Amino acid sequence: MRSLIERADAALERVLPPADLAPTELHRAMRYAVLGGGKRLRPLLVYAAGQALGCEGPQLDAPACAVELIHAYSLVHDDLPAMDDDDLRRGRPTCHVAFGEATAILAGDALQALAFELLAAEEKVGAATRVRMLHQLGTACGSAGMAGGQALDLAAVGSTLELTALEHMHACKTGALIRASVHLGALVGGTDDDTLATLDRYAHAVGLAFQVRDDILDVEGATDVIGKTAGKDAAQSKPTFPSIIGLDASRARLDELTTQALDALVPLGAPARLLADLARYAATRAH
Ligand code: IPE
Ligand code: IPE
Ligand code: MG
Ligand code: MG
Ligand code: MG
Repeated sequence: MRSLIERADAALERVLPPADLAPTELHRAMRYAVLGGGKRLRPLLVYAAGQALGCEGPQLDAPACAVELIHAYSLVHDDLPAMDDDDLRRGRPTCHVAFGEATAILAGDALQALAFELLAAEEKVGAATRVRMLHQLGTACGSAGMAGGQALDLAAVGSTLELTALEHMHACKTGALIRASVHLGALVGGTDDDTLATLDRYAHAVGLAFQVRDDILDVEGATDVIGKTAGKDAAQSKPTFPSIIGLDASRARLDELTTQALDALVPLGAPARLLADLARYAATRAH
């Protein structure tokens, strides 16, 4: 995992505009939002899905960067005063605290655009696969995916949700991009439809599990460990797993989702080992 994180970091460093290129403030903010922190789970899922299909080549680097650029953009916007209003991210001041709101908004916009630009231009991948990747990523980011989930999150502040509505919100705001990460890796790996459906069962469970763990960490984690302000969800009356079903039931749901993810991988055998490790990691991570 460590070597793949280093590979993703090196690829991100290569694709981001240099800090001394104009407009320098925007480029510095983009680099700040992406580099120097982050678990890189989404790039790891791209590499792991490729690996499960016997592909480890450099053609996985562009999709790995694309999903992390989208993720970094989503965090910059998620932290804005109009959204979660957070001042700590990855143990550092959030992008808008460091660069101002206008630059942070533009940095998010530009990171999102860069993700699509990268995928579209990746000539190591055939044109038909590239179009499928662009379609998949666009759907995952949009109103039926991450942005839609964020809208549901904001609309539900201060109210309570049924468990199914909560799971739907989480599946959109966090799950969609995690699913897209697995899909992109699988597409580059030359997946057939059956394998893609198998991987999607895995990815759906991991995507939801990841946000359940995030909600639990907001309650149980310490600010200096999670790198963001602990207890923020309750302070802002966010609909979360612990607030709606309690901590014990949240932990039980997390175990159930992890089992679902691991079971889904059985037909893929040993090459899916890294995917299995990532499912366990998403559920047990300390930050
Ligand atoms: C945090 O994501 C936001 C969620 C979608 C829960 P991560 O926990 O993956 O954040 P980084 O990239 O490691 O900082
Ligand atoms: C963030 O969920 C989801 C996205 C960024 C799309 P949270 O609001 O729970 O993430 P954190 O806790 O601020 O990282
Ligand atoms: Mg949020
Ligand atoms: Mg937030
Ligand atoms: Mg959170």
